[in-house]
Amino acid sequence: MIKLLTIVGARPQIIKAAALSRAISIFFSNEIMEIIVHTGQHYDSNMSQIFFDELNIPIPNYNLNVGSGTHGQQTAIMIEGLEKLMISEKPDFVVVYGDTNSTLAASIAASKIHIPVVHIEAGLRSFNKKMPEEINRIMSDHSSTLLFTPTHQGYLNLVKEGFRVVDGPYSIDNPGIFHCGDVMLDNSLYFKDLIKNNSSLFNDLKIYNENFILATVHRAENTDNPVRLESILIAFLEIVSISNVQLVFPIHPRTFKKLESINPLVLERVKANSRIKLIEPVSFLEMIELESCCSMVITDSGGVQKEAYFFKKPCLILREETEWVEIVETGSSILVGANRLKILEAYFEIKNGSFDYPEIFGDGRSAEFICKKILEN
Ligand code: UD1
Ligand code: UDP
Repeated sequence: MIKLLTIVGARPQIIKAAALSRAISIFFSNEIMEIIVHTGQHYDSNMSQIFFDELNIPIPNYNLNVGSGTHGQQTAIMIEGLEKLMISEKPDFVVVYGDTNSTLAASIAASKIHIPVVHIEAGLRSFNKKMPEEINRIMSDHSSTLLFTPTHQGYLNLVKEGFRVVDGPYSIDNPGIFHCGDVMLDNSLYFKDLIKNNSSLFNDLKIYNENFILATVHRAENTDNPVRLESILIAFLEIVSISNVQLVFPIHPRTFKKLESINPLVLERVKANSRIKLIEPVSFLEMIELESCCSMVITDSGGVQKEAYFFKKPCLILREETEWVEIVETGSSILVGANRLKILEAYFEIKNGSFDYPEIFGDGRSAEFICKKILEN
């Protein structure tokens, strides 16, 4: 029996962890034991607890309750707490997801005390080091022993950075890189079957057809720049007014707080517009129900732009660049930044387009592959 210490902290990591926990409980429960640690980076019930309940993820064995803070504060408190736990739990591997401060803290803590790190969603690059996530990804990749990339591009990025295709046994100095597909696809495929009869959300929102856009915004570069944030929201107001379409906007707490304190007037306009449904963050099942039924997605989220692709929806990406370059190459998604005019132009460009959605993210069984590779090592 090997012991994994899985570290989660932010909403998307909790969701991703569901795929590995499910694969362990179905296929590998005699060989793999998983201990889950929540750093507490996200803590509102609708940013954290709701996913454990809904996605059947085991209750975390530990919660460090670090909460919010500056990058340095948050990461430092996590490193201290995680190191203590790693020393007492003595896991065979530490598993980290994605590119948040929780990922960085766990990778640093584990690698320094010689516990091999498994990085799921490795290799992604925006080539923009002003993004905190880019620093987190690079540091985590370079302190990992097993690196699992969701896309072929992710794999190529690692090779360009000097990772070599080598045989095991793997170690931090001889890391193994694997292109395995995306655990988010595993989850979207698995959970979409559970949403079929859950239509109360649409009744609550008073949405009776598929003529609606789903939008999310939370990236630091958008929320922390009042001009960009206002420009995005003005674009939303213009789209719903010109096109007679509804827009569902489950708002991240970061974005809501910024709007309340810095752009209260535009927030009031959005709230007052009956075609815009400004709502609290929704559960994952509600989110994939919205994604699968909408006509278009507008987002700066990494996860949501991919899910738009899984559900074959055109997408406007509110960023200057993306790690998920393959999506943009298909033409179904357009990078629009936060420029109001670009957002409007691109909206009309892809609104009625029909696109191919070739398989980029694997076959929905990435988590099984990851477990097998961990066991082989
Ligand atoms: C973090 C990740 C980002 C990821 C996102 C997923 C980093 C550097 N960023 O960004 O990569 O895409 O999570 O959602 O790790 N807040 C609450 N309640 C919560 C959580 C946050 O109110 O439960 C508010 C707080 O005001 C906090 C702010 O949101 O200061 C930002 O939270 P934080 O976890 O620092 O970053 P995110 O923007 O959520
Ligand atoms: N998500 C959710 N409810 C919401 C918004 C997003 O369940 O109200 C899910 C979404 O389906 C995806 C993940 O959260 O699986 C993406 O997280 P987020 O956008 O916070 O972060 P990112 O992926 O950009 O790191």
